[in-house]
Amino acid sequence: MSVLSVSGLGKTFGGLKAVANVDLEVERGEMHGLIGANGAGKTTLLHLIYGRIRPDRGSIHFNGTDVTLLPVTARARMGMGLVFQIISVFDGLSVNENLLLGALPKDSTRSDSVDQIEVEKVIELVDLGAVRDRSAGKLGHGEKQRLEMGMVLLTRPTLLLLDEPTSGMTQAESRRTAGLLQTLRSEGAIDAAIVVEHNIEFIRLVADRVTVMHRGTVLAGGPIDEVQNDPAVQASFLGRLH
Ligand SMILES: Nc1ncnc2c1ncn2[C@@H]1O[C@H](COP(=O)(O)OP(=O)(O)OP(=O)(O)O)[C@@H](O)[C@H]1O
Ligand SMILES: [Mg+2]
Repeated sequence: MSVLSVSGLGKTFGGLKAVANVDLEVERGEMHGLIGANGAGKTTLLHLIYGRIRPDRGSIHFNGTDVTLLPVTARARMGMGLVFQIISVFDGLSVNENLLLGALPKDSTRSDSVDQIEVEKVIELVDLGAVRDRSAGKLGHGEKQRLEMGMVLLTRPTLLLLDEPTSGMTQAESRRTAGLLQTLRSEGAIDAAIVVEHNIEFIRLVADRVTVMHRGTVLAGGPIDEVQNDPAVQASFLGRLH
């Protein structure tokens, strides 16, 4: 069974088909890259999957369950986690405090709460041990992004959705983030991930397969090396992949 199965998904804004008839399968253990030019519909697709917006048509199955009409809270409870582009950490609190606070159960049905032991594990994963007592406002951009990721990880997602996780990062920070995603997978902390990125070097490091979007539709799919030789993909990216 796929972790995620998207079928015939569509979303129109006004007259604009932001996402049109998209099929997408993500298997257990898979890191799936989502690429495409600006306005191709990548963020809209991610938000449809997470439930921040409702599709006009099509379906979304998560671990075999139809979640098409379920709200974000239900999908999060079932194991979806979205790492936003916008940083939502509390600048006045330390790294450790942010993690403890951000990890508070978001709904009353969850009886288990996150404790310091789990926070320690995540601090190690996102490599913030050296700055754990520093206030978040004093962190560098890459460190803040890793803190944001840590806060999402503490909600124990099994499917991690990331929208341009390396935007604003240096090349070294991007590589570190790629390493973190690989660790999450190899340690079985997550079942799968979907990564939206313009940074093709990063995609090359983390993604087993990619889906290329163009004006709301799927233009191509497969391993990045195959996809980048597709003439239609090259035309859509205007040679940006090389
Ligand atoms: N809430 C909205 N209302 C109206 N139009 C929208 C809305 N959200 C997205 N769009 C439009 O839908 C299209 C797809 O947008 P989307 O943000 O999904 O693209 P994207 O692939 O993430 O682009 P980028 O790489 O620039 O982030 C764009 O034309 C955008 O202007
Ligand atoms: Mg986007």
